[in-house]
Amino acid sequence: MIEIYYASSASGMVKQFAQRLGRAAHDLGDREVRRSVPDGPWVLVTPSYKTGNPDNDTIPEPVRRFLRNPVTRRRLVGVMGSGNRNFGEHYQAAARTIARLSGRPVLYEFELQGTQWDVEDARAILDELDAALDAAHRG
Ligand SMILES: Cc1cc2nc3c(=O)[nH]c(=O)nc-3n(C[C@H](O)[C@H](O)[C@H](O)COP(=O)(O)O)c2cc1C
Repeated sequence: MIEIYYASSASGMVKQFAQRLGRAAHDLGDREVRRSVPDGPWVLVTPSYKTGNPDNDTIPEPVRRFLRNPVTRRRLVGVMGSGNRNFGEHYQAAARTIARLSGRPVLYEFELQGTQWDVEDARAILDELDAALDAAHRG
């Protein structure tokens, strides 16, 4: 089963969402988690944080650090993003940038902590991916 790794600030919106997905969800705010390498396929759930610096860097630092490991990067299946449309052109910038740089898809985008329907949609996507990976394994 695909596991979730997520970053979330003190407001905890991504954390709330990640914990409703019905599968193991690891908090990248935890140093031990950040230093670990996923055993198998995993999905990232990340917010975007526009810092206001000239690069408009929106990827949370814990995510950046976690992705330094090439094995971790190879096992990444896709990205789910939490954002806020008020940020206009920067909406979902972190999830979209990571997807572009890693060549993995943006699997789902939602605002803030997501709705009940967002949670259901995301669960369905993860279940489909589990089934696809399982089928691929069995050849
Ligand atoms: C300072 C600040 C900057 C943000 N920048 C962006 C942004 O560039 N793009 C975006 O889509 N959302 C942006 N957001 C919205 C957050 O990504 C969104 O609220 C998310 O749900 C926060 O998740 P968290 O509570 O788990 O940290 C920003 C929020 C704050 C407070």
